[in-house]
Amino acid sequence: MTATKGLEGIVATQSAISSIIDDTLTYVGYDIDDLADNASFEEVVYLLWHQRLPKADELAELKQQLADNMSVPQPVLDHFKNYPISEVHPMAALRTAISLLGLYDENAEDMSDEANYEKAIKLQAKVATIVTAFSRIRKGLEPVAPKKEFGYAANFLYMLTGEVPEEVAIEAFDKALVLHADHELNASTFTARVCVATLSDMYSGITAAIGALKGPLHGGANEQVMKMLMEIGDEENVESYIKEKLANRERIMGFGHRVYRKGDPRAKHLRKMSKKLTALRGEEKWYNMSEKIEAIVTGEKNIPPNVDFYSASVYHSLDIDHDLFTPIFAVSRISGWAAHILEQYANNRLIRPRAEYTGPNMQKYVPINER
Ligand code: CMC
Repeated sequence: MTATKGLEGIVATQSAISSIIDDTLTYVGYDIDDLADNASFEEVVYLLWHQRLPKADELAELKQQLADNMSVPQPVLDHFKNYPISEVHPMAALRTAISLLGLYDENAEDMSDEANYEKAIKLQAKVATIVTAFSRIRKGLEPVAPKKEFGYAANFLYMLTGEVPEEVAIEAFDKALVLHADHELNASTFTARVCVATLSDMYSGITAAIGALKGPLHGGANEQVMKMLMEIGDEENVESYIKEKLANRERIMGFGHRVYRKGDPRAKHLRKMSKKLTALRGEEKWYNMSEKIEAIVTGEKNIPPNVDFYSASVYHSLDIDHDLFTPIFAVSRISGWAAHILEQYANNRLIRPRAEYTGPNMQKYVPINER
């Protein structure tokens, strides 16, 4: 038995949800470029969960279900006030809150198709409330209740700030949600599938997935990109900063991908959004710096940017706290995780690979007083 490090190139499941073929990403066969330009996040959620686009009444029903399920049990919000340390990362808070949420769902252990679909709706609806409420509570502010007449993206921004968001912000945020919704068998989706393939419940699967997304090699990269941009501070520092990192063989966050070779198709949409939003805010420097970093990293290493690179300056331009970038990734990706969990349940087999053993052999037990 020979291990493949990082499972590179291993096809671990069949899936009809999304695919990456020749650097093209599709959700259920629709090119991500087509969806980014035309579909709303709710349409994409429906597409991922039903493997077809919704008709108008089906979309209206899903929107209604999401709006109706956004409220979160008070104890889940209250627990944010009782953390033992003051600087809890929002991804750790989210991971804990989703697990806690499961305790307040009397159908959490009901494994019927209907109950699982209902859980997907509840999780998708409530995650927006959880992330925004955490953000407000840690600042000493009261959570803001969602507005039933708002769409998902508008409600997220509204619950975050307490102010009705501008149209341009809603449009950008909605597109960012569409772009992050699913991504074949990425690390967190694989984690979710491994978890529920034991026939564990959906809350466990999503909690596990959040843990996997949190790391800087996966979803955590977008926060790290903004940290890097802040550290660089100004356009004129870009070249020396990046070249030094590359000379030291350090990774530049927001670049590279296990699957894409020519580039991540989502990055160009976020680049365009970053250019527009930073200009609107009069903070072009973040876009200009990012463009310069891209030129150096692609020029020197031929490693293109991924989804996390330009999403950093997009979210920054929407006045979102930097440590909320990865939770926002989770807010979108819950749609994909839920789709994969439902698909796994529908045709389940325990996921249990093997390991190539590299430890010592033929050891003999030595009593403790003889060691
Ligand atoms: N900066 C500099 N060098 C890099 C980078 C980078 N961002 N990414 C890969 N490389 C180099 C790496 O040093 C290695 O070079 P060498 O062969 O000379 O040692 C080569 O490229 C292959 O790297 P790898 O680590 O074997 O590639 P991987 O497929 O295991 O890793 C990755 C993929 C995404 C973890 C990696 O590209 C990386 O660490 N990127 C930075 C973190 C990041 O942006 N993550 C977000 C990924 S996309 C969205 C998401 O999933 O959230």
